[in-house]
Amino acid sequence: MPDRPFRPTLRRSWRLFKAFRVEQTDPAHFYGMLAKDSVDQIGSYQDLDGRWVLDVGGGPGYFADAFRASGATYNSLDADLGELSGLGDPEPGTVLGSGMDLPFRDGSFDVTYSSNVLEHVVKPWKMADEMVRVTKSGGLIFLSYTLWWGPWGGHETAPWHLLGGHRAARRFERKHGRVPKNRFGISLFPVTAAAGLAWADQQQDSVVVERLPRYLPKWSWWVLRVPVLREVVTWNLALVLRKK
Ligand SMILES: C[S@@+](CC[C@H](N)C(=O)[O-])C[C@H]1O[C@@H](n2cnc3c(N)ncnc32)[C@H](O)[C@@H]1O
Repeated sequence: MPDRPFRPTLRRSWRLFKAFRVEQTDPAHFYGMLAKDSVDQIGSYQDLDGRWVLDVGGGPGYFADAFRASGATYNSLDADLGELSGLGDPEPGTVLGSGMDLPFRDGSFDVTYSSNVLEHVVKPWKMADEMVRVTKSGGLIFLSYTLWWGPWGGHETAPWHLLGGHRAARRFERKHGRVPKNRFGISLFPVTAAAGLAWADQQQDSVVVERLPRYLPKWSWWVLRVPVLREVVTWNLALVLRKK
């Protein structure tokens, strides 16, 4: 089990929030902290030592070191070569491909992980199904994504996305003289908590271990039981499933 037990306290949420504020200027700090936090969190469900992990939409590999430090063999897949090369040569064990059509056999990995990718995918629940498919029996699926109606749903166009994704994109372009990196309807989609919870409830090949607001302290997790409120305050929904 992990060296650092995972404790979703208010202090941890505050530290993540402070790091998030410097994501653009100091991405290594933010992603390094998020990676350690993720590995601790996953480690609270599944011992990672000696396990094969697939990170779907892993980007340039910010999470690689943290997973390797836990003893796991880290493999990553991403659809964008530019993202994969963001820190130099892609990490060993990296595959270029789509999360919606994973180029792996059924039951290949002990843990499939995806962080902040689903909202960038045109068929998010196809990608989620693919993650379940490539997970071994008894293995863990950890799927987390940013909710559209939350404060960061529009990414760099937030909070104007709350008035409409296209409108927010046009506003961004007028203000900055360029299109946003995350383009509504092309690489950014309005994914809700309701859709993720419904997908998890309908699973036949896996059981739901936990549904949680990924960054929030444990005492606030009850918000997920309240329709509408959960869409706004959860920020990021994490679904944890165990393959049968
Ligand atoms: C916001 S980044 C998240 C990176 C990392 N997982 C994290 O949490 O920081 C979204 C990533 O998803 C990747 N992506 C988008 N569509 C994808 C797809 N269909 N299949 C796999 N990766 C995809 C992008 O290239 C990008 O690297």
